[in-house]
Amino acid sequence: MTETHDIKRILVCSAVGGVGRTTITVNLAALLAKENLNVRVLDADLQFGDIAMAFDLHPTRTLKDAAERKDIENILFYTMNHESGVNVLPAPDRPEYAELITTDFLISISEKLQEETQFLLIETQAGLNDLNIQLMETADLILVVSTPGMAALKNSKLMIETLELLGLKDKTHILINKFTAQTMISQKEIPELTSMEKAIYLPFTDKQIDHSLDVGQPFVTTHPKAAFSKELKKAASQFLNLNKKTKPKDKTGFFQSLRLKETGQGG
Ligand SMILES: Nc1ncnc2c1ncn2[C@@H]1O[C@H](COP(=O)(O)OP(=O)(O)OP(=O)(O)O)[C@@H](O)[C@H]1O
Ligand SMILES: [Mg+2]
Repeated sequence: MTETHDIKRILVCSAVGGVGRTTITVNLAALLAKENLNVRVLDADLQFGDIAMAFDLHPTRTLKDAAERKDIENILFYTMNHESGVNVLPAPDRPEYAELITTDFLISISEKLQEETQFLLIETQAGLNDLNIQLMETADLILVVSTPGMAALKNSKLMIETLELLGLKDKTHILINKFTAQTMISQKEIPELTSMEKAIYLPFTDKQIDHSLDVGQPFVTTHPKAAFSKELKKAASQFLNLNKKTKPKDKTGFFQSLRLKETGQGG
């Protein structure tokens, strides 16, 4: 299993659309930024990326402009800062521009963005394709998001089986989003339905999460005490694999421990 301090690049993907990739990427970024960790988000959902919208950013420059100018060196010029501290490289604003962005260019961009930052979060388009697989190969951690319905779970399982064939399963976690007490499928069935021994469950949160996407404020910022926010924070501590043995003895939280690791002060 990857050690916490090795995790710099987190990929958020899914087999099917509409499961919560954007919600999870934006909120995870906001959680890390809230703790003064340096976070960048690359919106690699090239046709229908929503990250800028979810942060209520109105970009004048996007990945499309960088691709047209083949500008890797000055990539930060195309990014925008959200008031949370998260730095965003937006996807093109129209689907037809997606084809201007080659896989090689995107991979080079992601490497450049990763310089001088503690975490790079990347949201992909739903499904498996050449670009997504290359992004998976270069990620330190792959988060596969699913909802608890049979169709989404079946396709998530196929995706995970593919990741296993590619030798990428060890760095993969599954997040079952929009889980409720009424969900027909029980947590006991999830390992068999997904091919993953353990899953992280994020609760369904009524209309409030929709609202946070509409107003461009991360839900974890506006509703830090809500079950979704608490579970996501707990999940982050789990998949960033905070090692109890290296945890500082005082009462610092897991984010503080991460900072200490990043600055070389941790155990
Ligand atoms: N835990 C949750 N509880 C309630 N609603 C949620 C939850 N997570 C996401 N949603 C809602 O589900 C919808 C889809 O979420 P989101 O846009 O994050 O998914 P996505 O996987 O990025 O979708 P797309 O494939 O369109 O990019 C949004 O309306 C969002 O507000
Ligand atoms: Mg999305």
